[in-house]
Amino acid sequence: RLQMDQLPTPEAVQEALLRQKEREERETRVFSSKVDREEAAHCRCECCPPRNSLEDNDYCCSSLFSLALLKKGVLFRDGLISKLQPIGAHSCISRDPHFVNYILTDLAARSSAETFSMMTGTPINDLNRSLRYGAYRTIISSTIGHLGKGVRIRLPACVIAAVRAKWPSNNYTGF
Ligand SMILES: *[C@@H]1O[C@H](CO)[C@@H](O)[C@H](O)[C@H]1NC(C)=O
Ligand SMILES: *[C@@H]1O[C@H](CO)[C@@H](O)[C@H](O)[C@H]1NC(C)=O
Ligand SMILES: [Zn+2]
Ligand SMILES: [Zn+2]
Repeated sequence: RLQMDQLPTPEAVQEALLRQKEREERETRVFSSKVDREEAAHCRCECCPPRNSLEDNDYCCSSLFSLALLKKGVLFRDGLISKLQPIGAHSCISRDPHFVNYILTDLAARSSAETFSMMTGTPINDLNRSLRYGAYRTIISSTIGHLGKGVRIRLPACVIAAVRAKWPSNNYTGF
């Protein structure tokens, strides 16, 4: 039986959370390690939330098209280029018709969320959360396609902000 004195100390919990966060940041990284984090975060698209409200590795969509990328980032960038209007048509990718008329719509997000629920057997409890994750999946499926089992990628801060603005919650865990 679990005794009080067998519970991990708050320090150990903190440490474990920190390590998990570091692993997640490593696994979801988009830019080459030579790229400075602040340079990647520097907003040129006019849609990113203020830097002080973002996480360390959050980045602006414009950085995808100007800075050195890891292989995963290249796949994402090339997928975006194949779907979006020519670069420069909109200051931010989230303003492109691919986002405005497709990804950021209730229909697309609901379809994606319901398919995920069917495939995984996970019920849709928190609707807006499911719709946000539905939209994130559609972003990947419409640009990269198959990302690889368990492979994850960090999305631009402006895109996450647009998805959250469309389907808000009081709380955001992860995305
Ligand atoms: C879910 O998002 C809609 C807008 O799409 C909003 O009106 C509603 O208040 C949100 N629900 C919650 C629980 O925040
Ligand atoms: C927000 O997070 C807190 C703590 O994790 C949780 O107790 C609460 O139910 C969450 N609220 C919503 C709306 O998800
Ligand atoms: Zn930006
Ligand atoms: Zn942007």
